[in-house]
Amino acid sequence: DVFGESAEAAVAVAKEIASLIRYKTNRNEHCVLGLATGSSPIKVYQELVRLHKEEGLSFKNVISFNLDEYYGLGKEDVQSYVYFMHHHLFDHVDILPENINIPDGTIPYDKISNYCAYYEERIESFGGLDFQLLGIGRTGHIGFNEPGSKESSTTRLITLDYLTRQDNAFAFDQFDEVPKKAITMGVGTILKAKRIVIMAWGLKKAEIVFKTVEGEMSTDIPATFLQLHEDVTFVMDDLAAADL
Ligand code: GLP
Repeated sequence: DVFGESAEAAVAVAKEIASLIRYKTNRNEHCVLGLATGSSPIKVYQELVRLHKEEGLSFKNVISFNLDEYYGLGKEDVQSYVYFMHHHLFDHVDILPENINIPDGTIPYDKISNYCAYYEERIESFGGLDFQLLGIGRTGHIGFNEPGSKESSTTRLITLDYLTRQDNAFAFDQFDEVPKKAITMGVGTILKAKRIVIMAWGLKKAEIVFKTVEGEMSTDIPATFLQLHEDVTFVMDDLAAADL
């Protein structure tokens, strides 16, 4: 779906998430949301906060799983994704703290593989993701699944691409401080979600949007694996859609 303005698109995405939460609440079921960070989802979270404050949308039945976290950063680090999620969403809604799941960037190195297996099992224990929200990196990453990531990949430690570190450097004092590794859900984890919405805003994303939508499926651009999913919507503004 192509929108003139990203703000308008973000409101539409938030509306879909809100109606899913309400539907699940009415049925007395958990709503299992896969959530993303980066600049793309910020307006979606703003609108969800507004719906909570002004229209009584409750997050009490929401179980959230974030896609990824920088390895080495924890909740005190303002660049961490745990900090981001609290700042933009969780601190402003009534989600229960025990229902928030974000990969732990402070896990000791020798415990990572057990931890990642646990993260996968925990998603499954709630019946899998009902909805996965995604942004896209200029390398074609979803979550932090950089080029080379396989369709069947699961939650794991990955090495960030140079371009990804450059694109995210604005949040850090110096380029050297941008972590070199991250823990991310896999492409396979994402593809198991029942519904996927991926967002892209601005001309900077036009080339990767084109390759993702019209290009051949390949590990060179992990986002192309979304072509395999039967219920995915790519939401973008005019600028991001410029090359289509
Ligand atoms: C980040 C995140 C991704 C995100 C992407 C795009 O590094 N790990 O989940 O989708 O890069 O970021 P932005 O939305 O700021 O363009």
